[in-house]
Amino acid sequence: MKEKLVEKAKEILDANFQEGGFTIPCKGLYPFQWKWDSGFIAIGLAYYNVKNAKAEIETLLNAQWENGFIPHIVFHNESDTYFPGADFHLSKLHPLASKEYRSTGMTQPPVTGFVLQEMLKIADDKKDMLGFIKSQIDKVYDNHKYFYSNRDINNEGLVYIYHNWESGTDNSPIWDDIWKTMNPPEYSFERRDTTHVDASQRPSKREYDHYLHIIEIAKANNYDDVKIAELSPFLVQDPLFNAMLIKSNTALIELYEKIGNNADKVAQLKSWQEKSIKGFNAKLYDEELGAYVHYDLRNNKPIRFVSSSSFSPLYAGIPDKERAAKLVKTMMDKFGGEDKYLCASFDPESDRFNPKKYWRGPVWINLNWMLYYGLKDYGYAEISERVKQDSIALIENDGFYEYFDSRKEIRKTETGGYGGNNFSWSAALLIDLLHQK
Ligand code: SER
Repeated sequence: MKEKLVEKAKEILDANFQEGGFTIPCKGLYPFQWKWDSGFIAIGLAYYNVKNAKAEIETLLNAQWENGFIPHIVFHNESDTYFPGADFHLSKLHPLASKEYRSTGMTQPPVTGFVLQEMLKIADDKKDMLGFIKSQIDKVYDNHKYFYSNRDINNEGLVYIYHNWESGTDNSPIWDDIWKTMNPPEYSFERRDTTHVDASQRPSKREYDHYLHIIEIAKANNYDDVKIAELSPFLVQDPLFNAMLIKSNTALIELYEKIGNNADKVAQLKSWQEKSIKGFNAKLYDEELGAYVHYDLRNNKPIRFVSSSSFSPLYAGIPDKERAAKLVKTMMDKFGGEDKYLCASFDPESDRFNPKKYWRGPVWINLNWMLYYGLKDYGYAEISERVKQDSIALIENDGFYEYFDSRKEIRKTETGGYGGNNFSWSAALLIDLLHQK
């Protein structure tokens, strides 16, 4: 194992761990706790600091709302290095929001279920970890219940997201056509992200106008789910988000079965799961593209682009073998050339591809991590190993960055690491990858 890399990764996680018991994704750029970051971070922490790994999950779940909702950012602390902060999001507008913690009124991919299962796999003391999981798992179950009760408006097993920040893939070209259906005001505000990171690697001011406008609509309706479903100009069924929910359903079923005495919850999870996998395969697969795609629920049409999210269903066991083979072929044909690191976040053959701009092309370690396991599960040992080795090489060459250029040749003249440096989930997931044989 590459001891030095692991040591550096631990140093990063330790430096980003806060007194309040949670880890910031990156100093300056992201100074609070983020939902899906905290999950990936807990996986890395579980290898060497079980106490902090548990704290990471607990601090996130402490901020859960009374309706089961878990917000995408928890503002445990004060910081003026980030916009938009707690005073903009105003979670207290929702009557069931946490009274104790300020947060956003939007969520992020539901990773916490499968993270708990990973923590159990990693733990030396399984009994102790299962005890911890037992104390937290109902909160994660309530979160899934929230999704199925409020966000599956057509009762098809697929939940919607109402904001691009809920997807995690913030400025993906997938959303470009939705922005064309909106005409938000030109807001005046002070961006903080572009004081930490080169603006060419971040979303544009005009894109931010759209992001803020959707939040203004949600706020004007006190973050009411029914109103949001009716009024939000952005309403999407996202394959990455739904694949994470399905993966977490599987994890919750297996964990509850280990814990015992939860037959009712297991039965409910199985019924959600069956509907979700069926709905997913029926609605989100595009035969012609050989990939899963997003569905624009507001404008009633599929969004026909291939991104790294298109392959994430492999991680959740969603496609059958035949469909998985087609997915892998699409991935290798478009994203897998020898001149490239796997796996760019957006179709490198598209004219919307931008190898430096956040989710418009760069490689992200969390998506690679899911692909590594998904490909391995479906029997693609060699490609899965390549995803792992590419991830290690990117971090070794460029540093623990937030995202990476997929083009190998640019490293002859420049570095390929972009966005924030000393980025927590790149560190945490590298620790996990280096432990896999
Ligand atoms: N990732 C977003 C940002 O860049 C928020 O979740 O600010």
